[in-house]
Amino acid sequence: MENPFKFGTIVDGSYFTDRVEEQEKVKQVISSENHLILISPRRFGKTSLVQKVMKSLERPVFQLNLQLVTDTEDFAAHLLKLVLRKYPMERLKHLISHFRFIPTISTNPMTDGIELSFQPSVDSFVLLEDVFILIDKIGERGEKPVVVLDEFQEIKALDKNLDKKMRSILQLHSHVNYVFLGSQESMMEEIFEKKKSPFYHFGYLMKLDKIPYDDFLVFLKKGFCELGEKTEVENVSREILAFTRCHPYYTQQLAFQVWTLWLQKGYMDTLVADASLLLTQVHDMDYERLWATFNRTDKKVLIGLNMNLGSPTSLSFLRNQGIESSSTAFSSLKRLSKLGYVIKNDVYEMDDPFFAQWIMKHR
Ligand SMILES: Nc1ncnc2c1ncn2[C@@H]1O[C@H](COP(=O)(O)OP(=O)(O)OP(=O)(O)O)[C@@H](O)[C@H]1O
Ligand SMILES: [Mg+2]
Repeated sequence: MENPFKFGTIVDGSYFTDRVEEQEKVKQVISSENHLILISPRRFGKTSLVQKVMKSLERPVFQLNLQLVTDTEDFAAHLLKLVLRKYPMERLKHLISHFRFIPTISTNPMTDGIELSFQPSVDSFVLLEDVFILIDKIGERGEKPVVVLDEFQEIKALDKNLDKKMRSILQLHSHVNYVFLGSQESMMEEIFEKKKSPFYHFGYLMKLDKIPYDDFLVFLKKGFCELGEKTEVENVSREILAFTRCHPYYTQQLAFQVWTLWLQKGYMDTLVADASLLLTQVHDMDYERLWATFNRTDKKVLIGLNMNLGSPTSLSFLRNQGIESSSTAFSSLKRLSKLGYVIKNDVYEMDDPFFAQWIMKHR
């Protein structure tokens, strides 16, 4: 028997659940004249969702993770490589007549990969602009391409004026749909929601939520169904979701561990508790190191969140945790959210349930 749960990488097929409405929404937006901006905390399933939709399309898709890109020139090179991989040079020849630079293209027979280099003196924004124009031309002549830029918040770190330049280039193109994904919510909001930002209101903003409880429950029960009795499967699945609060990644991680334990040792009432303790222990050193980086207010806020004391800026929370004022608590929450340790859905909560357990165990 193979473990039916998977975490850490993109999921599809039997590892992927729900997101029916979201898939529909993504399709709808990119079938229109609009661009899509998809935001969520880390590991909620943005890349998996978008990949799933892209696979179902019969349009050219160019997908690039900006975390892998080092600067503007590298960005242009990566993008051009994606295009070259899809279209033979012969077909592109008449489409690249606008190129203000001549790239040197070679193939590596060992890896079957394409190598690209540019003359050193070319302005890197020009390189990027020409590649984007090429993609728009491809759309003009045939199927409209979709360009997916994952971890888009990275453009802030790539080059100082890249956002401005990109916006000025992209706004001219009407034969491409762009999809921007990002996990640093505050940075993505700054890029797409701040009035002063070049990308202000550039497309349809979609926020990805956790997977709904009932859907995740069905998914978990299906994964465990061959291991035990119906009531055992039901209890274990519910216990997992109570612990992970439906966080997509942590739910799959814990379910994976529970499944392994269950298979090894048979059913026990403590399966979920044992598995979660095991996973918390694995990260003991990381959590200890991390904990040491927080200031005193951060620590008080995190502990309070795990004690379910209500809103961290409420009087009772502040009093109980000995925090001077709601503004102190608020700036701590902002800091912790920016770093991804705290997420806000209906309420503030810790992102990582294992870290939350570690904190409570050590208090
Ligand atoms: N639809 C889904 N059904 C089940 N599990 C999912 C689903 N989407 C995501 N997951 C779980 O979450 C993990 C992370 O998914 P993915 O990498 O797509 O998220 P992400 O938001 O792109 O993450 P990151 O912020 O790291 O880029 C997956 O490995 C899987 O365990
Ligand atoms: Mg991703």
